[in-house]
Amino acid sequence: MTDSAHAYEHHAKTFLERRDASLVGTKIVEQWCKQLPAGATGLELACGGGYPITHVLNSANVNLWAIDASPTLVAAFSSRFPHIPIQCERVQTSDFFNRRFDFVVAIGLIFLLEEPDQKKLIVDVARLLEPGGRWLLTAPVETGQWTDTLSGTQCTSLGVDRYRQHFHKAGLHVKALYEDHGKNNYYDLVST
Ligand SMILES: C[S@@+](CC[C@H](N)C(=O)[O-])C[C@H]1O[C@@H](n2cnc3c(N)ncnc32)[C@H](O)[C@@H]1O
Repeated sequence: MTDSAHAYEHHAKTFLERRDASLVGTKIVEQWCKQLPAGATGLELACGGGYPITHVLNSANVNLWAIDASPTLVAAFSSRFPHIPIQCERVQTSDFFNRRFDFVVAIGLIFLLEEPDQKKLIVDVARLLEPGGRWLLTAPVETGQWTDTLSGTQCTSLGVDRYRQHFHKAGLHVKALYEDHGKNNYYDLVST
């Protein structure tokens, strides 16, 4: 099994080139941000180099923190957003800055993790959120396994029914599901 953190670090330069030139997800994140209260505190998990998603979040009236496991991507992120605190680490072992947040964003992350780590992440994020807090994440609605073409990571989607069960158990309600033009699915969650 390829570790997603190592795999992304190995392919970081190629990932940066491709993602810097892609706007996939920006419209949905932009719309979603409009529902956040001014000054909200948020954590972006797996922020990559920060383009284009952090750029959108940073343009909203919010305060951001960030985590990514790739040193190369974290260095690119820090040069672009020096005011955003960032920790270079795996989400599986993170302390998430030892604080709570009004929202969390995790684009392109959960399906890179093995199933037990996905379940743990759902519980961890639910604990990080303030009551009524929001979490926007991408994961397929379909169940299945595939290989990430860029990094070679073996990916796993639990599918919408099982994701809903795990969210519900953790105290998260699925407010809405969206799809972008790249056919990625977004779960818009609220902490109950
Ligand atoms: C598909 S990219 C998405 C990046 C960014 N969210 C975006 O939309 O451009 C996956 C990101 O997850 C990071 N990553 C992979 N495994 C991770 C882990 N276990 N903990 C934290 N970050 C991880 C990679 O370094 C990479 O930046």
